[in-house]
Amino acid sequence: MHNKRDVGALIDMGVRVLEDSTHLFDDHDHRLEAEELMAVALDAATDDLDPSAVPSQRASERYLSYIARRAAGEPLPFITGYIDFYGLELKVRPGAFVPRPSSELLVDRAARRLRRKRDPVVVDVCTGAGPIAIALADEFPHAEVWGTDILAEGLALGRANARDLGIDNVTLRKGDMYGALPARLEGAVDVITGHVPYVPPDEVDDLPSEVKEYEPVSTLTDESTDGLRLMRTAVFEAARWLKPGGWLLLEVSDDMPPKVRKLLRRSELKDMGLASDSDGLSVVVEAVKDR
Ligand SMILES: C[S@@+](CC[C@H](N)C(=O)[O-])C[C@H]1O[C@@H](n2cnc3c(N)ncnc32)[C@H](O)[C@@H]1O
Repeated sequence: MHNKRDVGALIDMGVRVLEDSTHLFDDHDHRLEAEELMAVALDAATDDLDPSAVPSQRASERYLSYIARRAAGEPLPFITGYIDFYGLELKVRPGAFVPRPSSELLVDRAARRLRRKRDPVVVDVCTGAGPIAIALADEFPHAEVWGTDILAEGLALGRANARDLGIDNVTLRKGDMYGALPARLEGAVDVITGHVPYVPPDEVDDLPSEVKEYEPVSTLTDESTDGLRLMRTAVFEAARWLKPGGWLLLEVSDDMPPKVRKLLRRSELKDMGLASDSDGLSVVVEAVKDR
């Protein structure tokens, strides 16, 4: 029998279920997620949700099944089908790393370095489905933006997203780190961004289900003992691609900066410190190539 709960009560219930889940990071905004899932179930905008409205039985069931999927660890964007990243609606599907809102800090930091450049060149290594590259290409239509990754699924999704958004100044190429770039970019890049895998392999099991069961393991770790093989490549090969005065910006977790800064000390780049967002969850390590 259809139990006629209103939107407000269903959302409260969804929040409780998500809070009790052991498969999710505990820093998610469960209310916002329950509201988003309700909006998808009702085919409405979250701003238009009326807490006192009573959804149809089908819509209630749809919502509850979404909540159950989310509580079991399925990433929210796989259920909604998209993520809002830097003001862009990006389609998301399994087979690639799911863009994280925390990477918007990396876009912000790159944008600061690009603002006064006329026709800048940007490279995003480990681009996945290209959210960082696409956001920068959108923000700087005169920039030439490149993204590289070894996984074809993410690149195909990124190209489709860029095409749908009418962004044509981004090229997403399959290949190993800087190896996918054309030689003419050597010494010509203004900003390199990277959200490189850095989880040591023996720590992957400790990640919540929403990560380790839904994203390819190669998006999380490079399988090297310390998890820093790709980070070393990102740091030590950057100088070859950067212009004098060009920046390397690497997004890492809050416990990583000492390790990355140790690498920077052994590189040709100058360590310029850290940037972090207001909740401290996202950190960007910044370095510059001397003029
Ligand atoms: C943490 S994810 C970040 C993806 C994307 N930048 C984002 O923020 O959504 C790391 C990415 O590195 C890619 N990757 C792993 N090994 C790589 C390699 N040798 N060269 C280039 N990309 C690689 C993975 O496929 C994955 O997409």
